[in-house]
Amino acid sequence: MLKVLILGSAAGGGSPQWNCNSDVSLAVREGQKGTSPRTQSSIAVTANGTEWFLFNASPDLGSQILKNKLMHPNKKFPRHSPISGVVLTNGDVDHVAGLLTLRERQNLSLYAHSRVHKVLKENSIFNVLNPDYVDRRDLQMNRNFELLNKAGEGTNLCVEAFEVPGKIALWLEDESKGENFGTEEGDTIGLKISSKEDNKYFFYIPACAKITPELTERISDSEMLLFDGTLWENEEMSSKNVGQKTGQRMGHMNNSGPDGSMEALKDLNIKNKIYIHINTTNPILLSSSDERKIVEENGWQVSYDGMEITL
Ligand code: MLT
Ligand code: MN
Repeated sequence: MLKVLILGSAAGGGSPQWNCNSDVSLAVREGQKGTSPRTQSSIAVTANGTEWFLFNASPDLGSQILKNKLMHPNKKFPRHSPISGVVLTNGDVDHVAGLLTLRERQNLSLYAHSRVHKVLKENSIFNVLNPDYVDRRDLQMNRNFELLNKAGEGTNLCVEAFEVPGKIALWLEDESKGENFGTEEGDTIGLKISSKEDNKYFFYIPACAKITPELTERISDSEMLLFDGTLWENEEMSSKNVGQKTGQRMGHMNNSGPDGSMEALKDLNIKNKIYIHINTTNPILLSSSDERKIVEENGWQVSYDGMEITL
């Protein structure tokens, strides 16, 4: 059994974004029919029903925990959390800033690629994660292994991490390093998340710049894929006058078009394809939009905060 809880379905900044008046942000802020606010990118998963791992820790983590009863402390103890640890897929602000919310003497295991651990170590603000309580463990690539709680006990939840095309976190970009801003392998990863006991599994890939043949091969014939839904079109931010960057510049592929994820994944045997990490400019966030209709006709769902899935 795997239980998945979508804590935050939006990309960086959430939806609405605090200073944004794009059509979606406006509609959500005004509470129009068919809209709902979305917080930043994070999911929680359990394979034993009691111990949960967060996959990415968003700046909205405090409110996400408050909103979802499954994340509340057991009332029997003075301090407790059902959250046993965190697994990071990159070093983006929307995926790591929530680590700061997890201070307060809680035993946790923190798994990340060594590149991400390095930047967390170099940023002394993350020292609020006291090593007496928080074990930082390297996420090895292309190897399936069981996530352990701080005490070293198995949780029945397994992961296999793999590199996907992407970009180094925005706050680590180094223009002197040329066109890819210093991006190296391991800066963006996808995960196969599985249950040890019954071998249920799904893929979680909240950022991906391109679908390669290796990736297609890996994710084919699966029950569920949570995939980068950041933008509908590559030029969406500039066409809506809210930014200059293209999706490709940000390390994200668009949903639509011949180079988009719908087209690239259309013939794969994947039972549930779900967009996640959706930017507030993306019209699929409006339930009555033509774009929402198109993604649904193509067999995709649009995730929302509080969505629960059991495999
Ligand atoms: C991204 O997904 O591209 C980043 O989260 C952008 C950001 O850091 O704002
Ligand atoms: Mn992001």
